[in-house]
Amino acid sequence: MRFPDSLQGRRPTWVEVDLNQLESNFLALRRFLPRSVKIIAVVKADAYGHGAVPVGQRLERLGADALAVALPEEALVLRRAGVKSPLLLLNGFWPGQEDEIIQHQLTPVVFRQDMLDSLEKAAARAKRQVVYHLEVNTGISRLGVEWEEASSFLARNAGTVWARCEGVFTHFSLAESIQDGSTETQLERFTRFLEAAEQGGLRTQWRHAANSAGILNFRQSWMDSVRPGLAVFGVNPLPSPQNALALSPVLRFKSQVMQVRVIRSGCSIGYGNAFTATRDSIIATLSVGYADGLMRALSNCGHVLIRGRRAPIAGKISMDLTLVDATEVPSVEVGDEAVLIGKQGNFEIRVEELAGLVQTIPYEILTRIGPRVPRLYLGQDTVMNSRPSH
Ligand SMILES: Cc1ncc(COP(=O)(O)O)c(C=O)c1O
Repeated sequence: MRFPDSLQGRRPTWVEVDLNQLESNFLALRRFLPRSVKIIAVVKADAYGHGAVPVGQRLERLGADALAVALPEEALVLRRAGVKSPLLLLNGFWPGQEDEIIQHQLTPVVFRQDMLDSLEKAAARAKRQVVYHLEVNTGISRLGVEWEEASSFLARNAGTVWARCEGVFTHFSLAESIQDGSTETQLERFTRFLEAAEQGGLRTQWRHAANSAGILNFRQSWMDSVRPGLAVFGVNPLPSPQNALALSPVLRFKSQVMQVRVIRSGCSIGYGNAFTATRDSIIATLSVGYADGLMRALSNCGHVLIRGRRAPIAGKISMDLTLVDATEVPSVEVGDEAVLIGKQGNFEIRVEELAGLVQTIPYEILTRIGPRVPRLYLGQDTVMNSRPSH
C-alpha cells in the first residue's frame, strides 16, 4: 500500500492491519483442527496491538466460537462495539467488576473461592445466571486452583445456583518445545483432574489447554477447544522457521523519511554519538521512535527497508526519531516509505527477527507499538482508521 490518503495532514507513521490475512490465518487454523474443536481466539492487549475491535469483529464473523481477553475492561470495549460472542476473561476480575460481568454476559475465569462467592452473590442480586471457567494450575503457577484440588473445588461448588462452571482449562509454560517434557507432565495432570471431576459427575462443556504452540506441537492437547493468539496474527509460535500451517503476518509497521543528509567519515550522530561513520555516508531521519514502539534496544542493530534495500539503524533510537544509514539506498529522498515490520521488494522484516535481535519475544514487539501510531485496516469495505486522530 502506498502512502494512505487517510494520513494526509498527519505524521506519516502507521500500522497496516490486513484483515484478509487475518481471515486466511484463522481459516488455516480452522481447517487444521477437527470441526468438533472450538476456537477461542485470544485478542487481549488490543489484539496483540492489532486493534481489538476490527479484529474481534472479523473473527466473530468468521465463526470463532469465543474470544478471550485479559481484563473485563477489554471485554467491555468489544461489547460496546457490538461483539456478541462469548468473551472469556483470562485474568478473572477484581472486586467491583461483578455487576458489569453479569450485565454484559462476560465469562470470567475463576481461580479463588472468594471470586466465585462474590460472583454468585452478584448474580443472585441481578437474578441472572453467570457462567465461568475454572483455571487449573498444572505447572505454570501463575493463576489457577492446584490440579490436585481442582475437582474438590468443583464438587464443593456444584450446588451454586447463580454461578455455573461451563469450562475448565490449564495453560502451558513451554509448549514451543517438544523435547522438554513439561507439557506432557502438565497434560497428564490436567487429564487426572478431568478424570477425577468426571468420576464425581462434574463434566463441563469447554475443556481447553492449547495455545498456538500447543496446537502445533501437541495434538493430544486439543481436547474440545483451543486458545490460539499469536498464530491468528500470522506469527510463528515455534522456534523452527517452518510449521504445519501456512501463516503470514497480519501487521505491517511503516514510516517515512523526513530528512536526508550527507555526513563525512568520522562524524558521529544521534544521542551519545553512538554511531560514527567509517565512510562518507547518507543518513536518513525517520519520523518514528521508541515512544511509538520501535524498541530502543534495536539501536545500532536493527534494519529498516527503504527502496527495497535493508538500511541499518544508525546510533541510538530517540523517542520520536530514528536515524538510518541509507548510503546503499539508491537516490533516497524525503517521503520515501520506510518499513519497520513487513515486506518491501525482495526483503522482509519479521517480528520474530526483531525479537531475536533484542532478546525478547514477538508478543512484546507487537504489543509495544504505541497508541499514537494509527492502525489502518485493509480488507474492510473501505480502508478505515479505527483510532481517533491525535
Ligand atoms: C491463558 C492464555 N491462553 C492463551 C494464550 C494465547 O497464547 P498464544 O498467543 O501463544 O497462542 C495466552 C497468551 O499469552 C494466554 O495467556
